[in-house]
Amino acid sequence: MKKGMLIISLCIAVLVSGCMKEELPAAESPENDLIVVGFSQVGAESEWRVANTESMKAALSEENGYELIYDDARNKPENQIRAIRTFIQQEVDYIVFSPIVETGWDSILQEAKEAGINVIVTDRYIEPGYENLFTAFVGSDFRSEGEKAVAWLEKTLAEQGRAGENITIVHIQGTMGSSAQIGRSSAIEEAIAENTNWDMVSQECGDFTRAKAYEVMKAILQETQDIDVVYCENDGEALGAIDAMEEEGLVCNVNDGVIVISFDATRLGLEYCLAGKIALNVECNPLQGPYVDEVIKQLEQGETIEREKYMEEAEFDSLTITQEMIDSRDY
Ligand code: AHR
Repeated sequence: MKKGMLIISLCIAVLVSGCMKEELPAAESPENDLIVVGFSQVGAESEWRVANTESMKAALSEENGYELIYDDARNKPENQIRAIRTFIQQEVDYIVFSPIVETGWDSILQEAKEAGINVIVTDRYIEPGYENLFTAFVGSDFRSEGEKAVAWLEKTLAEQGRAGENITIVHIQGTMGSSAQIGRSSAIEEAIAENTNWDMVSQECGDFTRAKAYEVMKAILQETQDIDVVYCENDGEALGAIDAMEEEGLVCNVNDGVIVISFDATRLGLEYCLAGKIALNVECNPLQGPYVDEVIKQLEQGETIEREKYMEEAEFDSLTITQEMIDSRDY
């Protein structure tokens, strides 16, 4: 074809395809079918968080009918407020957010409500009294996780014939003010108040990270090495505390060493459990994406939703865990 003819043909083709696009009703345009979700994530402080982000991204994918706007708040509540305000300005269909701390969300959630945007709170919850500001919750019951750990400790010490002995406990807490920290801390604090022979020798914040927990455990070990139990509020903290203890020559083991309790049950945490270094690992299930997807799809269909969905969570004991159990898990 001559060059002139080719240009004319191309112009006609472009014009025709342009007209055809304009004739499509807006609702039939593929991008208009996508449900737009703004997701404000806490950060990337732990293996657990990475698994949670992956679960959300996989469930809220374009293939599954979503346009996901993801924001990492880098563990700063002010970043989360800014992200949520941006989602409101962008007129997203849904806001999903995992609140870093329990308090301080009423004004921004009120703004979302006034804009008519459904908010789904995930992972951690917000302080009681503001239930009217969000549509649904999908996450964990941290108090119940803490109670499982405490019940296991009481049972284990009794089986070891140490029920009446003086038990020294180091407590490494998660991000202060987060519901994960509040629930898990309250369980051990109440148990210490009830068991008068249990003695909290140190309580420090490890911020849910291996590095911070290593640092605080190192400092604690300068003060005392007479430690029976280390109660860590996630796997990262347990690993950091174990690193510090092993450097000082302490052995972490349920029968003849320091009893380390952890939460999350990530793959690495469970490998430490299998090796006997973490005596008990209470699961915190990060695979919340499919439930968030389910809630949104039900809301889209005008169906009744389960307003609060608590994740099913197991616990793993170093004396009974197997490699097969670890291999069968998704994170
Ligand atoms: O909110 C869940 C907690 O946050 C997990 O236990 C911890 O690993 C994460 O950072």
